[in-house]
Amino acid sequence: MTPIVATRIAINLGIFDFVHDSLKEEFKGDEIVSHAGGDPLLVFRILRSLTAIGIFNVTTAETYKPDPVVKDLARGGYLASRIIMNFDVHFQIFAKLPQYLKETKYKSPINAYAGPFQSVFNTDEHYFDWMKSHPAQLDAFNRTMQAGIMRDNAARWTEIFPIAQRFQQFMNTTPPSDEKLQLVDIGGGIGHEIKVLLDTFPCLRGQFILQDVPGVVQHMLPELQSTPTMQTVQAMPYSFFEPQPITGAHVYFLGRVVHDWPDTQARNILQHIRNAMAEDSLLLIHERVLPDGAAKVHLSDTIMDFSMMVLCSSLERTETQFRDLLVSVGLNLVQVWRPTTAGLHRQAILEAIRADFPDDE
Ligand SMILES: C[S@@+](CC[C@H](N)C(=O)[O-])C[C@H]1O[C@@H](n2cnc3c(N)ncnc32)[C@H](O)[C@@H]1O
Repeated sequence: MTPIVATRIAINLGIFDFVHDSLKEEFKGDEIVSHAGGDPLLVFRILRSLTAIGIFNVTTAETYKPDPVVKDLARGGYLASRIIMNFDVHFQIFAKLPQYLKETKYKSPINAYAGPFQSVFNTDEHYFDWMKSHPAQLDAFNRTMQAGIMRDNAARWTEIFPIAQRFQQFMNTTPPSDEKLQLVDIGGGIGHEIKVLLDTFPCLRGQFILQDVPGVVQHMLPELQSTPTMQTVQAMPYSFFEPQPITGAHVYFLGRVVHDWPDTQARNILQHIRNAMAEDSLLLIHERVLPDGAAKVHLSDTIMDFSMMVLCSSLERTETQFRDLLVSVGLNLVQVWRPTTAGLHRQAILEAIRADFPDDE
């Protein structure tokens, strides 16, 4: 716990920004102390804590050599974003969760607008709405979401679902065809899942629609805005609690959205998608799918499940829970695609179609 506290304070003091931006290999302690400001004794104690966890290596000449991890701890870096988000929000709630659950008679939280998050932050806003007026938290959240997908240890959806095989007719083939894949990424954040798709399959012809709330969608990834694919990616402010304006798309994609919501809201989101789907539309849900029993669960599944509990009064679902949820809104779960790579088994793509059209595959 202590190292993360020291790291959070060092982020505030701009220590990692200074060290990273300076592009030097070694620093005198005084140099870092005078840049950071604050009581030299305090800054020294923070540096000592950072050294103890390997962020700095102190030479015999008492100079501080930063570890390469400093890049991720500097402004906008993956670890900086994650630490800001975890420290400022998650940990604040976790510290009070035992008391909260005692007071609420140990009921699993199910109210997205009155749960542990609202109790600790003294608000009746949903976590996502609250972030709109807390830009540093929103930025940290979006960067963490983006990094979670881009980092090597996460399973990309393009490695799980057989895109080349299923969307072959939309690839640039000879003879060329004009058919375009219409894909709607609902609650797609700043567009990293679309980016993964376009990076993996640059020859895919499509019309890609990125939907999210206005404050988020306006930050669509610059890569998506500045490349030739730009014409094919449209950012559309939209709330998934409203009827879906794009009907009959080939693919409706929901990445890490359903786990943010308890069943009441999850059903509402899925119902709007179902109503917009045509006979040949697919719904692809990219989520962790937990085992039904506790035996094979992974530690990270339980960490994420508790995060969903405290932030959103929601949960990570098992395959049975997903199937029941989908059936309850008239959708059939056709297949659960899991990565073949060992260690990435937690991520899955759930493929669903409308239940009122026969599945002829
Ligand atoms: C956990 S993030 C997932 C983002 C992205 N799909 C991914 O996999 O990284 C959930 C997303 O849902 C969005 N969201 C929350 N409420 C929404 C709403 N009412 N309508 C549309 N998007 C919403 C958030 O802004 C956020 O980008």
